[in-house]
Amino acid sequence: MLKSGPNHWGSLAKFFHWTLVALILVQGAIGLIMVDLPKRPSVIPVYSFHKSLGLTILALAVLRLAWRLFDARPHDPPAMPRWQALGARAGHALLYLLIFLVPLSGWWYDSVAALRPLYWFGLIHVPPLGGPDPSIPDLKHIAADRHQLLFWVLIAVAAGHALMALIHHFHNRDGVLKRMLPFTRI
Ligand code: HEM
Ligand code: HEM
Repeated sequence: MLKSGPNHWGSLAKFFHWTLVALILVQGAIGLIMVDLPKRPSVIPVYSFHKSLGLTILALAVLRLAWRLFDARPHDPPAMPRWQALGARAGHALLYLLIFLVPLSGWWYDSVAALRPLYWFGLIHVPPLGGPDPSIPDLKHIAADRHQLLFWVLIAVAAGHALMALIHHFHNRDGVLKRMLPFTRI
């Protein structure tokens, strides 16, 4: 079923969740490897790929949030204390925010660095988010630091979130993880 129900996540919500998890992990690995490569012209395609994949992640995040506005989330398990439900909600809201802020900060960095025009997989021209500011000569480094910091905040929050999912599964045994797994109906 495409839509979520009171006790399960729909296939579209699951598709967005796990596709974004996989792409964010691949993208993070490419980013970390790429910044350590020797600065030669041969690294340009790697940077271009990272930027295009990052913009794809941003587009998927927009689609995911748009779908979420039409799709109700399943009920919390009845035994779940209120503070835990509120904590989970806050964690999810933070994750939603970060899947926007990480790619936006990368796009911003690319714009203020102003090295080359940005193309999505060489096909679509993507306009810059602002440009270099002569009154802030360090802006390029500030933007790169923000992008890096936001990425690690996302990884830390996502690790806590994954740990909570595993605690639900192995300790509380309440089906919260199972209802988000692909190809599973509970
Ligand atoms: C969810 C999406 C993204 C993730 C997870 C991600 C992750 C990363 C990571 C981990 C690094 C290495 C940071 C470091 O250790 O210095 C990096 C660098 C970089 N990212 Fe992204 N990125 C994303 C999206 C984007 C986008 C959309 C763009 C541009 C349109 C972009 C442009 C860059 C650039 C140019 C660098 C190199 C920065 C430098 O030279 O210091 N990223 N990214
Ligand atoms: C980059 C990594 C991740 C991000 C950005 C992320 C993001 C999210 C968000 C935003 C939600 C809330 C969905 C909504 O209310 O619309 C969610 C739900 C969920 N996530 Fe993740 N997630 C990540 C990784 C993981 C991993 C690794 C696991 C499992 C080990 C996991 C398990 C779950 C489960 C079980 C739910 C449903 C919770 C419920 O039914 O209340 N997530 N995730």
